[in-house]
Amino acid sequence: MSLIESTAWQALATHYKEQIAPLSLQQLFAGNESRFAQFSVEADGLLMDYSKHRITGETLKLLVRLIEERELGRWTDALFSGAPVNSSEGRPALHTALRAASDQGVEVNGQAVYPQVQASLGKMAGIVAKIHAGQWRGYSGKPITDIVNLGVGGSDLGPLMICHALEEFRHADAAGLNLHFVSSIDGSQLAERLGHLNQETTVFILSSKSFTTIDTLANAEAAKRWLAQKIDNEAVLLRQHFIGCSANPEKMSERGIPPQNQLLFWDWVGGRYSLWSVIGLPIALLLGMDGFRQLLRGAAAMDAHFRTAPPAANMPVLMALLGVWSSNFLGVKGHAVLPYDGRMRHFPGYLTQLEMESNGKSVDRDGNPIDYDTCPIIWGDVGPNAQHAFYQLLHQGTQPVSCDFLAPVLRYRISRSDGTQEQLQDQQVLTLANCLGQSRVLMLGDQALAEGDPRRGARNDQHYNGNQGSTTLLYPELTPYVLGQLVALYEHKVFVQAVIWHINPFDQWGVELGKVLAQDTFAAIKDCQQPFDDSSSQGLLAYIARVRG
Ligand code: F6P
Repeated sequence: MSLIESTAWQALATHYKEQIAPLSLQQLFAGNESRFAQFSVEADGLLMDYSKHRITGETLKLLVRLIEERELGRWTDALFSGAPVNSSEGRPALHTALRAASDQGVEVNGQAVYPQVQASLGKMAGIVAKIHAGQWRGYSGKPITDIVNLGVGGSDLGPLMICHALEEFRHADAAGLNLHFVSSIDGSQLAERLGHLNQETTVFILSSKSFTTIDTLANAEAAKRWLAQKIDNEAVLLRQHFIGCSANPEKMSERGIPPQNQLLFWDWVGGRYSLWSVIGLPIALLLGMDGFRQLLRGAAAMDAHFRTAPPAANMPVLMALLGVWSSNFLGVKGHAVLPYDGRMRHFPGYLTQLEMESNGKSVDRDGNPIDYDTCPIIWGDVGPNAQHAFYQLLHQGTQPVSCDFLAPVLRYRISRSDGTQEQLQDQQVLTLANCLGQSRVLMLGDQALAEGDPRRGARNDQHYNGNQGSTTLLYPELTPYVLGQLVALYEHKVFVQAVIWHINPFDQWGVELGKVLAQDTFAAIKDCQQPFDDSSSQGLLAYIARVRG
């Protein structure tokens, strides 16, 4: 039976039409003084307020019935136990095993997972220790000062996001270590970086699950050419200046990465779920292994919460249900992620891959086209910056949208003797004020100000409708543990939604055809050919040929 014909879905559709559509958020709040108490949950230091969504207790009951009908419990057990939940590729998706605190007895193809994970982390710890101690030397014998991560998608976005967010937690032994991230295939980022680097003291991390991604391999070749300007011995160049992180040891060896510089993970970890593996090497270099393990601990705590909390108090489940409610019943096509924290500037970008590459699907697990919406467009930015950019559309545009607001309450990690600490605390109050103020305006529109308040605009173009749903996530401070919790929260949200929509969140066939076409087009540009039968491609190729001469 199709999802939309199911009893729970039909009940939700009727409930929306008869009870929710006529009601605004203003009315819902006016009619229930305890909405916050009813629709918020606090667990392990995180507070999630979802009262600003157009729901009632009945909505929640029906949404919970939906996940029961979709057998979320069975799917969750399958995910954690290593069943092949990535059905199109016939393999498990065991990112949760990467952060498990103890051996859960999970096996893949008869091989215990936990010892493999620990061994891989152990090898990574050895490399981290060597670089931190200044014992990893460049070709001329100098210690390493710069690490360049060459990777794209899941082999870039997670480590990039976390390293930016947690810079303040830099390990003392990483004091003189600069981390750089290079992803773009056109070489512009790399060229810009190389201009500031010294071959003697730079190590490249070649980060690619498949080790076949042309973007990363092209940058690696450019990096090798740059190193070869100074190093005429290729074996030395690779041994002293390249580390490979991949699930494909054969390909790493083919490219000359020596075994001792190969860090491994497995095809049962999805690329966009891999920051917990050796793909997290830049994170471990920044935070040290203790800091990296704090991140894992936070994620493991969220795993435990997800597995044990009842649906109505389960953050990832609630987040997923609210997303489904918004997309499939309220018509929301765009969801903004708005961290009120400059350190989290790459968090929305990271989530675009996690959510849209996972759940941007139009065919179900059985290969049938589906007749309901799946993942909305996810976008976002640092909240206060976005207020001066796209909030206009959130407040007065024509579309229903939903938002996640995220903020730490305290901000005193930078504690310098010059008084900077106090200033940050003051600015944090300003930041929180903006965060809470904006979500209130989104909810209530003009009515965020009292009737008769002269600051209310009188003209049509000053009118705010409100009635836009949002979730607010608050936490005491941003720490490695908390960031681990947050990332795992979104991972499980994505999983729950995929269960409801009956899609596979662990494959990404939609990116393959473009790669194939790029190969054909590459040959066409090189050889000045016209292999395509559409006038647009022909015109563009002709222009390129003309300009290239
Ligand atoms: O093309 C999409 C994709 O396969 C992502 O899923 C992945 O994170 C990215 O490319 C990079 O892949 P790899 O880590 O194999 O280089």
